[in-house]
Amino acid sequence: MANIQVFPTPAVLYHSAAEYWVRTAKRAIERAGAFHIALAGGNTPRGLYQLLATEPYASQIDWHRVHVYFGDERYVPKNHPDSNYRMAREALLDSVAIPPEQILRIQTEFPEPELAAEDYARVLQSHLPEGEIFDLVLLGLGADGHTASLFPETPILTVRDRLAAAVYVKKLKAWRISMTYPAVEKARQVLFLVTGADKAAVVAHVLSPSADKTLPVKHLQAQGEVSWYLDAEAARKWEVTK
Ligand code: 6PG
Repeated sequence: MANIQVFPTPAVLYHSAAEYWVRTAKRAIERAGAFHIALAGGNTPRGLYQLLATEPYASQIDWHRVHVYFGDERYVPKNHPDSNYRMAREALLDSVAIPPEQILRIQTEFPEPELAAEDYARVLQSHLPEGEIFDLVLLGLGADGHTASLFPETPILTVRDRLAAAVYVKKLKAWRISMTYPAVEKARQVLFLVTGADKAAVVAHVLSPSADKTLPVKHLQAQGEVSWYLDAEAARKWEVTK
């Protein structure tokens, strides 16, 4: 059963998510000398990343032992306003001492999205050898039930033979490169961050036992612990169904 927590505001949620990150990082570094984390894209996690770059959180993490990956990326240049890497860099990575070789971004410079995905699958395979898994995967949730770039009715939903793939999202008229289910599931812990009234319907849907299984997020068979951090707006419809 997932651990679901509701916070009055996004600001309170971000502080709890920052404490969760610090706890998880310390535990992983104690256990294995390193903390492997996959970042979520979109708008919701930006507030968490910004908070982690400030005190009292920044000094509690040994950033030299942090290895950063990305759950998905828009097929745009790394300095493009839509780039998840750019968002994470500006919100956090530029402000903390993670060795550059431990920031494993999805290289969107490749001439074809499939080539970028193949490259990232290799990066994940080499940095997370057999048996090794992410200590933490951060995920968001789209109003259509997508997570990372695992969008409804797209071929990436059936990819299980590699850790990353490219996907063309018709409704966005855009290519994305995303971790596949096997990669996202390869996590000791998964933390969903979901805020805002526009997510209330999908949250109630996803967290209700009778949720329609066609929602991509419902297909996630996470190996480890799954937590949902919701703000009151996003949880509004779910709370009344509980
Ligand atoms: C992305 C994300 C995507 C995101 C959801 C929610 O690259 O956009 O990885 O899965 O988490 O679309 O996005 P918001 O946080 O912007 O609502």
